[in-house]
Amino acid sequence: MNPIGVFDSGIGGLTVLKALTDELPSESFVYFGDTARVPYGTKSEPVVKQFALQDSLFLLKHDVKLIVVACNSASSVALDFLKQRLALPVIGVIKPGAEAALDAAPDKPIGIIGTRATIASGAYQRALKSLKPDIEFTAQPCPLFVPLVEEGLTAGEIPKVVVEHYLHPLKEAGIGALILGCTHYPLLKSIIAEYFGDEVIIIDSAAATAQKVKAELAVRGMLADEETSRSINFFASDISPGFVEQSRLFFGGELPQVEKVEFEVADFWV
Ligand code: DGL
Repeated sequence: MNPIGVFDSGIGGLTVLKALTDELPSESFVYFGDTARVPYGTKSEPVVKQFALQDSLFLLKHDVKLIVVACNSASSVALDFLKQRLALPVIGVIKPGAEAALDAAPDKPIGIIGTRATIASGAYQRALKSLKPDIEFTAQPCPLFVPLVEEGLTAGEIPKVVVEHYLHPLKEAGIGALILGCTHYPLLKSIIAEYFGDEVIIIDSAAATAQKVKAELAVRGMLADEETSRSINFFASDISPGFVEQSRLFFGGELPQVEKVEFEVADFWV
């Protein structure tokens, strides 16, 4: 059975790959992290769309049967664009995250946090409204969270101050659930949960997305045989110093061997 393709702007999407490998133990995966061009969350929509299409075309070369857009920024601005161009199922992280938030707190306002690209796109806001038209939400870009996580600053005074700086409007809004709308934010989950206390349920889209992928494969009769021994192949467009250590943090376990992809410069700008 063909593998599932997963791409992200970098290694943050390994949080999603981890959820997928846990949910689908018989499936093989090909993961591509566009580490040479990360971050996507600060870039314009046309550029993110172009990168997302190139990442998907790379995965197609590996005969994937379905593509998971692990990156929230790419899911927010490029999901429909990819679906219109690719003849295979493409699943993003936005809708599963929105559904999980509404399930968790059906009668309370929902908080959404993400990169500037994700929040400005309005994708989570639209997904929530399509599920419940009169829903209340507060959306907040948190651009310092990605560099904090990448610097390993996930506990202590510095992230605490930044969490308070960004999240106090959501606390004031009395949210019942908070969508962590970025691949990096699950690593800040403890400090965010501590800030809100027990009343706010923290939603990590990764687990909800993995369940959606499983359901989609089942409906299409495309689930791998339970007896199959699986493979996980990990590709990246750059391997910077600290890459392996950081990747291990996101994946939360032993990593598959990583292979560097030699893109032609021309491939980037076709
Ligand atoms: N993967 C991105 C996301 O989930 C975060 C890093 C970036 O900005 O590229 O939005």
